[in-house]
Amino acid sequence: MLLKNPPMGWNTWNTFAEHISDQLIRETVDMMVTEGYRNAGYEYIVIDDCWSLRERGKDGELIADPEKFPYGMKALADYVHSKGFKFGMYSCAGVRTCAGYPGSYDHEYQDARTFASWGVDYLKYDFCFFPNRADCKLRYLMMSQALRATGRDIVFSACNWGVEEPWTWMRSVGAHLYRSTSDIFDTFRDTANIIKQQYDKFNMNAPNCYNDIDMMTVGMYGQGHVGGQEDFNNYEEYVTQFAFWCYFNAPLMMGADLRKLNEMTGDKDTDELRKKTKALLQNKALIELNQDEEQRPPFLVRREGDKFTFVKEVNNNEFVIGVFNLNDTQQLTDILLTDCGMPVSSGVAVEAYDILEEKPLGTFVDDLTVTPMKHGCKLIRCRFVPRNGFDGNRLAD
Ligand code: GLA
Repeated sequence: MLLKNPPMGWNTWNTFAEHISDQLIRETVDMMVTEGYRNAGYEYIVIDDCWSLRERGKDGELIADPEKFPYGMKALADYVHSKGFKFGMYSCAGVRTCAGYPGSYDHEYQDARTFASWGVDYLKYDFCFFPNRADCKLRYLMMSQALRATGRDIVFSACNWGVEEPWTWMRSVGAHLYRSTSDIFDTFRDTANIIKQQYDKFNMNAPNCYNDIDMMTVGMYGQGHVGGQEDFNNYEEYVTQFAFWCYFNAPLMMGADLRKLNEMTGDKDTDELRKKTKALLQNKALIELNQDEEQRPPFLVRREGDKFTFVKEVNNNEFVIGVFNLNDTQQLTDILLTDCGMPVSSGVAVEAYDILEEKPLGTFVDDLTVTPMKHGCKLIRCRFVPRNGFDGNRLAD
């Protein structure tokens, strides 16, 4: 099995779009080693759109742009591999990619062989310029088969933005992840829309095929291709984005310029912010949740307007309560343990730990109260413990 857990990595698109190069990839890869991203679990380095020449070669083959990639893709893949990462590339199910480069429609097997010969381990497969009368499901199946036919292990990252409800069939055609959303922008409004649109569509999220809710914008601070908005996310809003991606076992693909997190905001306090942002992207407890052995989607316990409370079963008979507050005000929230499957008669209590604040909260029997701030969230890890003074007869009450 290729993907026991959601893939973690970095993708060029959110920040760089067409401004990509061999040098950018090498610098990012080097930095991901020295700054601890590799050790934190980030593994796939993915070159998105705009890497090829505008036309195919005389035998119909894809050709890497020699100005952007002067040593060719094989040499770059070798470099990426030598640093302990996996190498990802991009193509499209249509006749052109979204940025107008050649797509793989009717070239599926030829292109899959090209990617395999370059040492590609991951293919993101987009949906622009898809012929009107063509069959979307069949074409994703075809590329999936083409990749398998190469004999190389290649993660197939389907990206058709939710068209024809991919959560109902992408697993069946062999995709390892499927984009279910249109493109992300670096605002909280956009993060909130993704959350509201997808929280109930993770039921098919399981080992080897994951619901991809797009590359994260954490750390962009309004810069780069999907940045540019005045109301770009602040650090606290990035915490909510990262926490949601982790809690829902979504692929963790970073999209910021990791070399420059510190230069991006124009704030005086950039160094402090860079450290905090990097620590967030490498937060062990959150990544552990994302990579949890059980890979269970959260269960919605209660929705009150734009505030959502979930329970997520995790490894070791523990569970994690998640409260996501998408409102513009902080929200006092009383979580009834009976809603989480623990009635008064259960005879057990929970020992609770606040994952984001990194502090124990104590032992609770009937309910516990948290106050997520505006656009904030709370993740409370719970462990069953015996209830003090419980005499066993409460069951008969
Ligand atoms: C689409 C995808 C994006 C990105 C661009 C590249 O918009 O959804 O993630 O790959 O194409 O052009």
